[in-house]
Amino acid sequence: MKGVVLAGGLGTRLYPLTHATNKHLLPVYDKPMIFYPIATLVQAGITEIMVVTGGPYAGDFIRVLKNGKELGVTHLEYAYQEHEGGIADALSLCEDFADGGNIAVILGDNTTDADISEAVASFQKGAMVFLRRVPDPERFGVPVFDPQDPSKIIAIEEKPSQPKSRYAVTGLYLYDARVFDFIRQITPSERGELEITDINNKYIQLGELQWRELEGFWSDAGTFDSLFRTNAYWAQKITGRSCEEFLQDF
Ligand code: G1P
Repeated sequence: MKGVVLAGGLGTRLYPLTHATNKHLLPVYDKPMIFYPIATLVQAGITEIMVVTGGPYAGDFIRVLKNGKELGVTHLEYAYQEHEGGIADALSLCEDFADGGNIAVILGDNTTDADISEAVASFQKGAMVFLRRVPDPERFGVPVFDPQDPSKIIAIEEKPSQPKSRYAVTGLYLYDARVFDFIRQITPSERGELEITDINNKYIQLGELQWRELEGFWSDAGTFDSLFRTNAYWAQKITGRSCEEFLQDF
């Protein structure tokens, strides 16, 4: 399976940090943010990767990732998204790269220490999403479970003001090649974007959406609080020191 890392957008919620570079190159402890989602793919055996970026700092990625070899990537390609058209719009640029095969898609600001190798190895057809219980589901895509069969997702709602479950649909997805046809069928949402949630709902309507719960840490890093939390988690995990110990050091 090939992999796609989506790293476009202007990162406006992180201004003024993102006046200097792309959000996905900001530090998460000792590495640029995008190293983490790339590592998640590489750990699952996915080493052919396309990075989709955009905005004024797209050129910064080449300096940081180069040809990907230092990260275990055997083949790295880049695509440039011309407008902030949303996640599904960014993914549409990867059709030639996918070449009719299945793809794993991860958002460049999502970090996790979950191992998705088994899910990747067993995935054949349809789509798969990865869920995580969160205290603030209204910030995310939220699954609605079938009251008759709680193992079944009957819809996903994008940033609902009254979430129908406590789960977030994380920014990690597996798709078969039909995803590109579905992207051509959807229209922009109220925020003017082609929503990945609309794509996932297409697979739900076909009865072909599977899900797994992500084990371990997961966070996006698109806001100051989530970026800080992400840094705190990885600093502790990488060094073995607690946040209290970091503060005592100085
Ligand atoms: C996007 C998706 C949302 C998902 C989230 C995960 O939100 O639209 O469904 O839960 O990523 O990080 P955005 O970051 O565009 O607000």
